[in-house]
Amino acid sequence: MKKLVIGNWKMNPATLEEAKEIARKTRHVVAGLAHTDVVACPPFVYIPAIASQRDSDLLEIGAQSVSFEEGGPHTGEVSAAMLRDMGVKYVIAGHSEERTKGDTDEIVSKRVNAIVSVGMSAVLCVGENERDEGGVYLEKLKQQIKGSLANIPANKAKNIVLAYEPVWAIGAKEAMPADQIREMALFVRKVFSDVFSADQALKATVLYGGSVNFRNAAEIISVGQVDGLLVGRESVNMPGFTELLKAVDSI
Ligand code: PGA
Repeated sequence: MKKLVIGNWKMNPATLEEAKEIARKTRHVVAGLAHTDVVACPPFVYIPAIASQRDSDLLEIGAQSVSFEEGGPHTGEVSAAMLRDMGVKYVIAGHSEERTKGDTDEIVSKRVNAIVSVGMSAVLCVGENERDEGGVYLEKLKQQIKGSLANIPANKAKNIVLAYEPVWAIGAKEAMPADQIREMALFVRKVFSDVFSADQALKATVLYGGSVNFRNAAEIISVGQVDGLLVGRESVNMPGFTELLKAVDSI
């Protein structure tokens, strides 16, 4: 199976010109990859310009959020159908930065539902805020995953990409050690299997996110046994992202 690397650009870069340049350079690297699919999630406003650049098929476009409403009086919101119409294939849901702003598991599950019901893939972010000796965080994580997947029809399980992101490792100095990522990826897959089925869990794509860079990316995939990565800062830092993609592709 091909590996999947998703770049979450967050609120970067500052201008459309820079955004187009990052996308163009990323496509240039992707053209030389054999075993890796790459998705860029720029801010909403840049999506149409990036989606219509040359060689657009080399880079799938994702969005960072979406409304769970279908349309109507929702100032400032963007619907799943609008994103699909712009060529978006993936949408992030439940990112910790959105959860901090008020997204509960219930809201996240509504967003996931909106995404998958129009045929896009949801990149569902889950992860503990902190760890404790007694392992309470595992129970909380399980509840978070189950709550975020509430009311998702079983036939949509294939449209869900799971991104395990321990919140304390996001925007941090170092990623989680790869051997721990391996345990946590197994745990996340097991909970997915409880919600859907063992077969769907085996087929599911599980990513790791949190301070991934060109130095640690290959080890996270090979030792951490994940199917790919959700990359923040390094995805808009072109020298680093180029090296990261090459390292992942050569595993
Ligand atoms: P980071 O962000 O790679 O900058 O830590 C990851 C994320 O928030 O998805």
